[in-house]
Amino acid sequence: MNQNLQNFPMPIITPRLILRPPGLADAKVVNAAIIESFESLSRFMPWAKNPPSLSETEEFIKQAVANWIVKRNEEPYLPLFIFEKASGNFLGATGFHHMNWEVPCFETGYWLRTSVSNQGYMTEAVNAITRYAFIQLGAKKMAITCQPENIKSKKIPERLGYVLEGILKFSRRDKLSGEPADTLVYARYGLEGLPDLKVEW
Ligand SMILES: CC(C)(COP(=O)(O)OP(=O)(O)OC[C@H]1O[C@@H](n2cnc3c(N)ncnc32)[C@H](O)[C@@H]1OP(=O)(O)O)[C@@H](O)C(=O)NCCC(=O)NCCS
Repeated sequence: MNQNLQNFPMPIITPRLILRPPGLADAKVVNAAIIESFESLSRFMPWAKNPPSLSETEEFIKQAVANWIVKRNEEPYLPLFIFEKASGNFLGATGFHHMNWEVPCFETGYWLRTSVSNQGYMTEAVNAITRYAFIQLGAKKMAITCQPENIKSKKIPERLGYVLEGILKFSRRDKLSGEPADTLVYARYGLEGLPDLKVEW
């Protein structure tokens, strides 16, 4: 399957959220959200090494915009920015990465700005893109990977009925201790049992 011919209608709309690919005009609010959330992001996110300057965030967004045009399967892959429907506020990001169009199967990741955590926004966003992957993109599998110590992160696939497919032993270094750490691989092979959510695109 030629990924460039894939049809990615956007935005994705849920009861509380709007998800869409990044635009150059988003840089300022995204930069502010990353800086606000840096303590939480830097614990597990490989890219969160230093609080980014505005021009670094602009550069990231430019690469993301370019990736979306050709569906490039490289960093930063295909991010989706998440906005609160009611206020228009930027909440965080998710998206598709490590796309294997032959199967097809995809991975997703996510981060939320600290000030809006614990309200179920990310669970709602990941529910939505899981539906999008299976229904719109014809996925046969969606995967979520995280470190076992990232309790808040692993609760998301667990809440959404992903199964623990495996544990990749010593597959990364813990950012805090520098010690070898494991990776949990959660997966879904369809939408059965996914909590109900009204999603459109
Ligand atoms: C991972 C991360 C996105 C999780 O954030 P979160 O706020 O826990 O996730 P959600 O927005 O889905 O909110 C879920 C929480 O809200 C609560 N909640 C409140 N209202 C809710 C609702 N309507 N629906 C679902 N959950 C709701 C849940 O009970 C849950 O709290 P709990 O963990 O105490 O059980 C966030 O911790 C983060 O950005 N971390 C840093 C980046 C990172 O590590 N990313 C993952 C890399 S693998």
